[in-house]
Amino acid sequence: MAKLFTEFKLRETVFKNRIFVSPMCQYSAEDGIPNHWHLVNYGSRAVGGAALVMVEATAINPEGRITPHCTGLWSDKHTEAFKPIADFIKKNGAVAGIQIGHAGRKASSDMPWNGGGFLPKTQGGWQTVAPSALPASSAHGAPLALSTDDIKSISQQFLDTAKRALEAGFDVIELHSAHGYLLHEFLSPISNQRTDEYGGSLENRCRLTLEIAKVLRDFWPQDKPVFVRISVTDWMENTGQQSWDLAQSIQLSKWLKEIGIDLIDCSSGGLVLDATIPVGAGYQTQFAEAIRKEAGIATSAVGMITEPVQAEHILMTGQADVVSLAREMLRDPYWPLRAAKELEADITWPLQYQRAKRT
Ligand code: FNR
Repeated sequence: MAKLFTEFKLRETVFKNRIFVSPMCQYSAEDGIPNHWHLVNYGSRAVGGAALVMVEATAINPEGRITPHCTGLWSDKHTEAFKPIADFIKKNGAVAGIQIGHAGRKASSDMPWNGGGFLPKTQGGWQTVAPSALPASSAHGAPLALSTDDIKSISQQFLDTAKRALEAGFDVIELHSAHGYLLHEFLSPISNQRTDEYGGSLENRCRLTLEIAKVLRDFWPQDKPVFVRISVTDWMENTGQQSWDLAQSIQLSKWLKEIGIDLIDCSSGGLVLDATIPVGAGYQTQFAEAIRKEAGIATSAVGMITEPVQAEHILMTGQADVVSLAREMLRDPYWPLRAAKELEADITWPLQYQRAKRT
């Protein structure tokens, strides 16, 4: 049996294979509330055979949304709207996960299909917040630097959101600390120039991600896993500028492991918008491998993983415990079913589709 189709267990949660659907914003919610689009989108990928369907970056408060149409989970109305989505995913054989986050200084953006630019207040945008009053780019509005009281209430909102996610029926929660959003902004010295306990040393820059990860881990049921997604590097090593990099990510991952975090979802970039990134097939799997080996924690590899043999190679060579696919899953929600055929793994198809299964 191909390793891609072997079970993977974290705590008491069993993933039927090692294919995860990477979180992908759909920019289709109203006031943060998901709808039929989300049900069909996530539902299709559960039917398609993925072991975990991770719902998109879902904001802890309205200002934490990337765009006005991103999902949120800040009221009971949101919880109710997510219930049928989590339920459908689980009824169709996948584990239901949700990524929660705050977009920080990259919030208040337009939808990608409108160009994705910064939205000023006059066009439906809002005041953004960040560790320091440094904009994401010259095209972004200046964020307000968070006070320590603001930081405490954001931590509380992460906990409240996790409570709602559990009530909505999700089994896995992922803390979004990547891609230049709020928590990554605290990690990187490029965006964090604070002089209090949340800035300066590596320990201080990691403090907020660690505090929130601990709050989530302490709350989330002991039999269910908690993931953290990080950008392993800002891709700024060659510039000589102080930045976030692999060595710091390894240390952060060791600390996250001590807290009881179960898996590091290893992405990269997003903080410096014009960084040079050598994008190509599997260009980030090296990070999943380094963290898995150096920090001794389970990892997910993500980034231009498109072919079943490529995914199998990543697992067989010990680069990661699972693979997460994003755009390829948009191209083909049934990718796992196709991969099973290609790798000659005999898997169960949805009953309704069984007559289409080629043996
Ligand atoms: C993304 N990505 C992303 N990442 C994340 O952590 N949370 C999110 O909500 C989103 N949203 C999102 C939307 C869309 C439309 C795309 C294409 C991507 C990043 C994604 O999960 C993944 O890390 C990258 O796309 C790289 O993987 P692929 O696409 O090369 O498989």
